[in-house]
Amino acid sequence: MIANKDCRFDFSTEVRPVCCRIVMIVTLIGLDGDIVGAQGRSDRPSLIPLPAAVPAPIDQPVTPEKVELGSLLFFDPRLSGDNRMSCATCHVPEKSFSDGLRLGKGHADKSLRRNIQSLLNVGFYPLLFWDGRARSLEEQALAPIESADEMHQDLHALERELNAVPGYRSRFQSVFSTDVTRRGIAQALAAFQRTLVSRRSPFDRYLLGEKAALSDEALQGLELFQGAAGCVRCHHGPLLSDNKFHRIGIGLDDDGLGAVTGNREDKGKFRTPSLRNIAETGPYMHNGSRASLSEVVIHYYRGVPAAADDGLPLDIAPLSGQSFSEVSALVAFLESLTGEAVAIERPELP
Ligand code: HEC
Ligand code: HEC
Repeated sequence: MIANKDCRFDFSTEVRPVCCRIVMIVTLIGLDGDIVGAQGRSDRPSLIPLPAAVPAPIDQPVTPEKVELGSLLFFDPRLSGDNRMSCATCHVPEKSFSDGLRLGKGHADKSLRRNIQSLLNVGFYPLLFWDGRARSLEEQALAPIESADEMHQDLHALERELNAVPGYRSRFQSVFSTDVTRRGIAQALAAFQRTLVSRRSPFDRYLLGEKAALSDEALQGLELFQGAAGCVRCHHGPLLSDNKFHRIGIGLDDDGLGAVTGNREDKGKFRTPSLRNIAETGPYMHNGSRASLSEVVIHYYRGVPAAADDGLPLDIAPLSGQSFSEVSALVAFLESLTGEAVAIERPELP
């Protein structure tokens, strides 16, 4: 088990970290600094820039050599069974590490059941995937490699294959003092992904005091986001995500968190996604069913059903009292969340 042992999560009630060192680091650094502007009233959940450092397990530091190895693995199609698909086939760097499709496309062009998530800022999430089923990047990394629908690779075969490549063998020796192992593969991929951060969006600059960074329309959107439209209830903190799970009435054929916990009351709940760089990562929602940000906001304004089909209550109600003319202001605010992402070049493979 590669997961960080200090990080346990309680799925029995509300999904939230119990004693997670990583989350505490995020919170502490997140509250540091001289932040002005959107925090406003103290009873409002806060909107804050990303912490300076991406949290990592103490026994798994992010070093330049490990990141370089992780980047080679991320772009290497040898990680898949037929040597045709790398992580970057689905998480395309030029598309904010997403793919621009409604649903992902897997092994032998099979359509996947979920929308591909962006990997920008992924190191700040305590729980991964739309349904939160992975607890660390280390735990997550081997899942797509082994999945018959995705990279369709046997891990023993992969270890053998990469051990036969001198450039990998020597790098694993130098970083981990071992041959190529699945544990090392997962750790290097995790370290690389912790470098995928986007900062200094117009909204971050506004938070740090640069008032002109937001247009009047985006400012109006921010006011709605924190006020009458109520978005901040779930979309807050440095990622603009509470890292909790909610049922907001999207799709009916995916149990989401319910399939992970086995609890009926979790059926149809999904992790609140980060809204950073959201303008670049459509289509939206776990099933890719909303093509544009306007369509997403229209869902909140008029599209939320009264209850899920099986009678389970939703965690939100449609904003039917609010004027439809507000949609474009909220979209302008969402567009101001696009930061400058690290430049990642495709490496030459060993
Ligand atoms: C065939 C397409 C495909 C490939 C290849 C693929 N992924 Fe993914 N990835 C997805 C999809 C789809 C999801 C969302 C799945 C879900 O929530 O059930 C996802 C989710 C993730 C997440 C969770 C992000 C979050 O916000 O929680 C991480 C991390 C990730 N992938 C990393 C990787 C790594 C590392 C590789 C290579 C080892 C990889 N992926 C290969 C399709 C792919
Ligand atoms: C009750 C919590 C909650 C509230 C309130 C809420 N959201 Fe969300 N939001 C979510 C969840 C959960 C999802 C993912 C749902 C899914 O995929 O089924 C989501 C998805 C999104 C997405 C798509 C993200 C992506 O990567 O696909 C955007 C954009 C968004 N919300 C914006 C907003 C805006 C704007 C508001 C206010 C009008 C709002 N949200 C209010 C919980 C919430």
